[in-house]
Amino acid sequence: MRIVVLVSGTGSNLQAVIDEVASGSLPLEIAAVGADRPNTFGVERSADAGLDTFVVNFKDYTDRSDWDAALLEKVGSYKPDYVVSSGFMRIVAPSFINAFEGRYVNTHPALLPAFPGAHGVRDAMAYGVKVTGCTVHFADAGVDTGPIIAQTPVVILPDDTEDSLHERIKVAERELLIKVLGDLARA
Ligand code: GRF
Repeated sequence: MRIVVLVSGTGSNLQAVIDEVASGSLPLEIAAVGADRPNTFGVERSADAGLDTFVVNFKDYTDRSDWDAALLEKVGSYKPDYVVSSGFMRIVAPSFINAFEGRYVNTHPALLPAFPGAHGVRDAMAYGVKVTGCTVHFADAGVDTGPIIAQTPVVILPDDTEDSLHERIKVAERELLIKVLGDLARA
């Protein structure tokens, strides 16, 4: 199984996947890691790990549809079986979803369908829920929508900050992502 991973930030979840693949316990090949912006630590650490990397910089395109086409072409050029959005902070176009239908996997730091969007951790805290968590799902053209593959609950502690909670969620998110990718790879 070949995957392309898309990131926008630090890529700590991606690093867990890289380590697991390197240790031989996750039977897949990371064909490439791509970002929507320059200078992400996610791309830097992937390059350090010897992986192919690319940037399709959103800000380089005045027309959104040109960025959509460029991203689709670049990702498609690696012929991945699955594309993994791991902290990729862009909604992709319907053309991308169609091209990778049922093969575009997203991770989200909340128990969807609760608290979709860019601030899933903050929104859960603001609402006052006592349990949140993480979701790995097949993404469709909506914001954090599409069939759910697996979820892990995480209890919110009374003295949690957004950062402390997000860090704990990310620990669960890494485990869950690795498990889901392992299941897909072995299916
Ligand atoms: C994860 O919680 C992901 O679900 C969210 O952003 C975080 C990415 O963290 N959208 P990292 O880049 O893997 O460190």
